Amino acid sequence: MVKKITSIDDLSLTEIKLIVDRAIKLSSKPRSIKAKTIKNIFNLFLEPSTRTTVSFELAAKKLGHNIFNINFDKSSLSKGETFEDTMSTLVNMKPDALIIRDRKEHSPIKIFEEHKIPVINAGDGKNEHPTQSLLDYAVLKKTFGNKKITIGICGDIKHSRVAHSNIKLFTKLNYNIEIISPNYFVDKKSVSKINNKIVYKNNLNDINNLDVLMMLRVQKERITKNLNSSLNKFKANFCLKNSHLNSKIYLMHPGPVNRNIEISDEVLDSYKRSLILKQVEMGVYLRMACLEHLL
Ligand code: CP
Repeated sequence: MVKKITSIDDLSLTEIKLIVDRAIKLSSKPRSIKAKTIKNIFNLFLEPSTRTTVSFELAAKKLGHNIFNINFDKSSLSKGETFEDTMSTLVNMKPDALIIRDRKEHSPIKIFEEHKIPVINAGDGKNEHPTQSLLDYAVLKKTFGNKKITIGICGDIKHSRVAHSNIKLFTKLNYNIEIISPNYFVDKKSVSKINNKIVYKNNLNDINNLDVLMMLRVQKERITKNLNSSLNKFKANFCLKNSHLNSKIYLMHPGPVNRNIEISDEVLDSYKRSLILKQVEMGVYLRMACLEHLL
């Protein structure tokens, strides 16, 4: 069966736990574990990325696979080739798997359905970013074990693919979820289709009950109306400062951070319970586990 990770919905809870436990195991014994058969993996990034693209490349290389990085500027897309023609060109080179980040929602699943090759969604517009959620869960499991935690997700939920994958995943895991966001950054109707038990808050002054606070980036590139006004209002009311934290709450952010919009310098540079760089580190092991699952 050809496998895909285009959405958290593609994985059963058993598969999620196998992938995450494998990533945790790899992270505690970080030696190279070469695959028996060398595969050719295409890493197609049509939106900017640091963490995801490099961690997939490193993950593939640690497993001994060949990986080919393709981005918009260096591909014939920049000369006007259509997306569909570029895809059939790449697919006819017979990759064993395709990793894709695209600004268009649902393009990873469309490629899978049309070409029947293993596909990983590395972020499709504001839809989903499943491997980010899986790595977030791996960090949480390493920190809390199997404890049922309460996690607050704060920021621009509406335009965030990480929020959409994480709400799906944390719901499957039966975590308590709170959303801390102004009305202009959350579509409660759409969130309630995934989980109608989520608690909503509209400020950061009432978060002492949380085990984890996950701040999310304001997705400036996806906000078409009133960007400056939304940014200024958000910054004034939701930028995380030391005074909001109680030293027991763990802090996460998928990165990249807009400094002093979501998180102040004082918190980002010195908060002791920050898991942000652990998320970056786990990204490599989690993506190794995803490639093993897929291939
Ligand atoms: N978290 C994340 O997807 O970061 P990049 O955009 O740097 O890959």
